[in-house]
Amino acid sequence: MTILDGKKVSNDIKTEIAAEVQKMKDAGEKVPHLAAVIVGDDGASLTYVGSKVRSCERVGFESTMVRMSHTTSELELLDKIKELNQNDDIDGFIIQLPLPPQINTQRVLMAVDPSKDVDGFHPENFGRMALDMSTFIPATPFGILELLERYKVDTKGKHTVVIGRSHIVGRPMSILMSRKGWPGNSTVTLTHSNTKNITQIISQADIVISALGVPNFLKAEMVKDDAVVIDVGITRVEDASRPKGYRIVGDVDFDEVSKKASFITPVPGGVGPMTIAMLLKNTLLAREQRSGSKIGQR
Ligand code: GUN
Repeated sequence: MTILDGKKVSNDIKTEIAAEVQKMKDAGEKVPHLAAVIVGDDGASLTYVGSKVRSCERVGFESTMVRMSHTTSELELLDKIKELNQNDDIDGFIIQLPLPPQINTQRVLMAVDPSKDVDGFHPENFGRMALDMSTFIPATPFGILELLERYKVDTKGKHTVVIGRSHIVGRPMSILMSRKGWPGNSTVTLTHSNTKNITQIISQADIVISALGVPNFLKAEMVKDDAVVIDVGITRVEDASRPKGYRIVGDVDFDEVSKKASFITPVPGGVGPMTIAMLLKNTLLAREQRSGSKIGQR
């Protein structure tokens, strides 16, 4: 069994990005600038955005965090997006999700200039992804592809079962794993809350990608011997013994499943850190495209 070490790989990627940024600096060029908009005070969202901003500093990017009140109207957010679209200094920006209920998420995501949409959530970019065109691939699926690639995991002709059909992870992942090329060329089953016989389907999977958000959902008896297991779950579970009062638990019962798997991601330290690294990579690509120095994303 091999652990897909997202912490290590994400650090490698950040080091590679930092070297690119240094080259830009040495050449007197503008460095990438990422902005993140957060609406409201959700603790988990603030933690994620905080760590995105810290990672920007680490690789030498400029970053801007835009905090807006939980009472922000959709129009106010759309105005802010217009400002970021027009601000030539910003290469890419993200709107942290989820948004408060008074705001229509899809309308907001459609207002982002696709050339600055480093999350890859705009329908134009999502469509380009589905059509194998160059685009910004959403960071979490992109991070999973990168892990599979760096650990040389064979995906061709394999049965990949994705659990969860979210727009951020499950849906794009199902498309990417079925694309021509590697990682890809899998036969994909996308399972969700209405799937019948989900345990039977999972038991046939060569590769399981779980993005469900149910702690320890996936047990050893549910997976095939030598399965590749990717855990996208990051649920906060109360734990008084921890300084923060909680710990992060994945969808996979790691201790048991790791005994059967050929490759497995831990939580924490698997997919989570990869997400941030790939957001940085998309931001670097956005800067390169804007400066015209390199065309062609993944
Ligand atoms: N909320 C959970 N994951 C993500 C993500 O990848 N991007 C944004 N913007 N919000 C999220």
